[in-house]
Amino acid sequence: PRPILLTRHGESQDNVRGRIGGDAILSEAGEVYSRKLANFINKRLKSEKTASIWTSTLQRTILTATPIVGFPKIQWRALEEINAGACDGMTYEEIKRNMPEEYESRQKDKLRYRYPRGESYLDVIQRLEPVIIELERQRAPVVVISHQAVLRALYAYFADRPLKEIPKIEVPLHTIIEIQMGVTGVQEKRYKLMD
Ligand code: G3H
Repeated sequence: PRPILLTRHGESQDNVRGRIGGDAILSEAGEVYSRKLANFINKRLKSEKTASIWTSTLQRTILTATPIVGFPKIQWRALEEINAGACDGMTYEEIKRNMPEEYESRQKDKLRYRYPRGESYLDVIQRLEPVIIELERQRAPVVVISHQAVLRALYAYFADRPLKEIPKIEVPLHTIIEIQMGVTGVQEKRYKLMD
């Protein structure tokens, strides 16, 4: 069985401020995570002949992968965070205050709600199809360094969770979710590398 390792980027400067979207660099804690992750990967994949590291095209995932050396890295636009469109760069408080109808509609149906000029969870799920096909095709381990909404959708696919649960699945920062695909089904382990 070959593992797929899923992780969010290390904490970003926007995470610290509570802003969604954007293309921020890592916070100090995020940088610490990037080094811990590299250590973990080196130990976990020591005996593997090949493996690859997939990131999105956003700085916070690329920077999280930077300390990992010795494995090929691939950037996917399809692994980018849900596009918050008109709400990009705002905090949830700001959205609630300045665009209350948008905030309400999202609360009512987070799966289908599409940000103005942005995406819905259903849009994200659809654009992940080529990534999933490629992941299924891989013989070697893959480390996917991406974003919360995207990882919710990928995790739900491999863990066979229903569509309606996707926007609520817990994918905490600084935690690796390891998925093993064996003949007997899917096994999961979580490694929390820091608080
Ligand atoms: O910026 C987006 C967040 O990672 C997604 O969180 O869909 O729970 O608002 P949310």
